[in-house]
Amino acid sequence: MYYPEETIEEVRERNDIVDVISGYVKLQKKGSNYFGLCPFHNEKSPSFSVSPQKQMYYCFGCGAGGNVITFVMEYENYSFQEALKMLADRAGVKLPEAEYSKEERDRADKRSALLEVNKLAANYFYYQLRQPQGKAGYEYFRRRELTEETIRRFGLGYANKTSDDLYRYLKSKGYQDGLLKESGLVTLEERGSYDKFWNRVMFPIMDPNSRVIGFGGRVMGDGEPKYLNSPETLIFDKGRNLYGLNYARTSREKSLLVCEGYMDVIAMHQAGFTNAVASLGTALTSRHAALLKRYTEQVILTYDSDGAGVKAALRAIPILREAGVSARVLDLRPYKDPDEFIKNKGKDEFKKRVDGARNSFLFEIDVLRRDYQTEDPEQKTRFIHAAAGKLLVFEEAMERDSYIQAVAREQMLPYEDLRRLVNRLGNMPQTGQAARGRQGADGRDREKKEKDDGNRRAQRLLLTWLIEQPQLFAKVRDIIGEEDFVEPLYRRVAEMVFDGLRRGDVNPAEILNHFINDEEEYKEVAALFHARLEEALGNEEQKKAFPDIVYRVKKNSLDYASRNASDIGELQRIIREQAGLRKLLATID
Ligand code: CTP
Ligand code: MN
Repeated sequence: MYYPEETIEEVRERNDIVDVISGYVKLQKKGSNYFGLCPFHNEKSPSFSVSPQKQMYYCFGCGAGGNVITFVMEYENYSFQEALKMLADRAGVKLPEAEYSKEERDRADKRSALLEVNKLAANYFYYQLRQPQGKAGYEYFRRRELTEETIRRFGLGYANKTSDDLYRYLKSKGYQDGLLKESGLVTLEERGSYDKFWNRVMFPIMDPNSRVIGFGGRVMGDGEPKYLNSPETLIFDKGRNLYGLNYARTSREKSLLVCEGYMDVIAMHQAGFTNAVASLGTALTSRHAALLKRYTEQVILTYDSDGAGVKAALRAIPILREAGVSARVLDLRPYKDPDEFIKNKGKDEFKKRVDGARNSFLFEIDVLRRDYQTEDPEQKTRFIHAAAGKLLVFEEAMERDSYIQAVAREQMLPYEDLRRLVNRLGNMPQTGQAARGRQGADGRDREKKEKDDGNRRAQRLLLTWLIEQPQLFAKVRDIIGEEDFVEPLYRRVAEMVFDGLRRGDVNPAEILNHFINDEEEYKEVAALFHARLEEALGNEEQKKAFPDIVYRVKKNSLDYASRNASDIGELQRIIREQAGLRKLLATID
């Protein structure tokens, strides 16, 4: 970490979380907490809570949670250092210069230098577009019916035919060859240095905070490759960014439109669909899906209507489903892509297609059907079996039934027959890939896993309760200690929590800082500090459950110790403890 822990703590303490978040989200006081609409996913009723006591926030809808520093990181898409700097400025805390290790400083410096270089290049291309030598580019955009305002909003530009003018420009600003090479804008060769982009119209790629992190360039005319993109760099990670997201994230629509190309995004925005984004010359990945999930619960795929576009949609649907994002598919036929569609049919027709976008599962079935000649009885039977097999992805009975109904209706199959077929396939462990996958673990494995989950849950619950209600600590301090938390992550948290409990001062927001470097751990720990709705039991229920939970944690800890006991003396001690456990617990009222 860059800064000493005291400094980070000071910055955090001097920025009251309710003050800071109020600047972004409208909050309302309810009891001892504040509530508002979650800025990290789309919702209609507030499930985003901010606790002034704990100095933390948590969303019961999407699970986002953390302290004031992470709020700024997530909201502004800042790195830890950037967020800390912003909050330090806000509170008038002076950050020390020293604490950087050399590599850390080099990296941070390089990051900001690369951002500067990209910004300068974007300005340069933008300027060229309006010069006599940029005429071809400007006319190209106008031919594609982009307005002056659109060109400005997206910062479009032109890289002219001279092969090293950008290089010379950036050198004149004092940047070294090594850095320019790393920006991907320049290639250094023995005979000289060349611009990567020339004779192309330029699309600056911006991160969610509208900082330029790379470029796409389209060739003038029919050359190859049609689009050329910046390589990945320290600041440009294709899997983590979506073109247009800097605008789409503020559109306040309930869904995001995901398409293939730069021109599609721009055409949609120009027509008023400002919730459109594109993945950058790559297929949609699960990291994209996670990014989308931060802003929306529903994606409408507006991929090209050709074979490649359909294939891309079929690949994206399960990735989105896995990430918990529901998907629909927009039919652009007979046009190739959103840009063409809007040019030919206009925005009102496009809006109708958006509203009529197809449920992604039914789309998959439509595409599946294309593989069979269903006039032929044998092929029809095979199609029905394949469709029934796909219906098994729905594990929840009511949901599955709705889909069986929809498929039966649309494909004109008798509902009862289809239902029976699906259920028969579902009950045959040896049939079908999906069925095999789900039945894979045999009974004993499953039992063990459930028990593990139960033990983890007990440890989590106990920690959560101790944090929420420190007065419980007095009842268990002679029974349970941090060493009883067997799960490694919970153990680390427990060490800090018990430390705090003994001092009489548990500081969740501070504890959370220790986990800032690992996103997964961070999320899990943040969730710990917020009793989940289903786990926030009423007083009476908790009173009853508390001794059981303590018992479970202790028992699991003793079992674990006995499995790992190294000598007989130790084992005997553990067995004695196990025997006395019930009696000990009776002392908790
Ligand atoms: N793409 C790319 N490299 C290529 C071709 C395409 O990176 N050689 C990416 C670009 O991001 C492009 C998207 O894939 O925007 C879609 O490609 P395509 O359908 O060919 O582009 P269009 O947007 O239709 O391009 P245009 O309308 O400018 O012809
Ligand atoms: Mn196109």
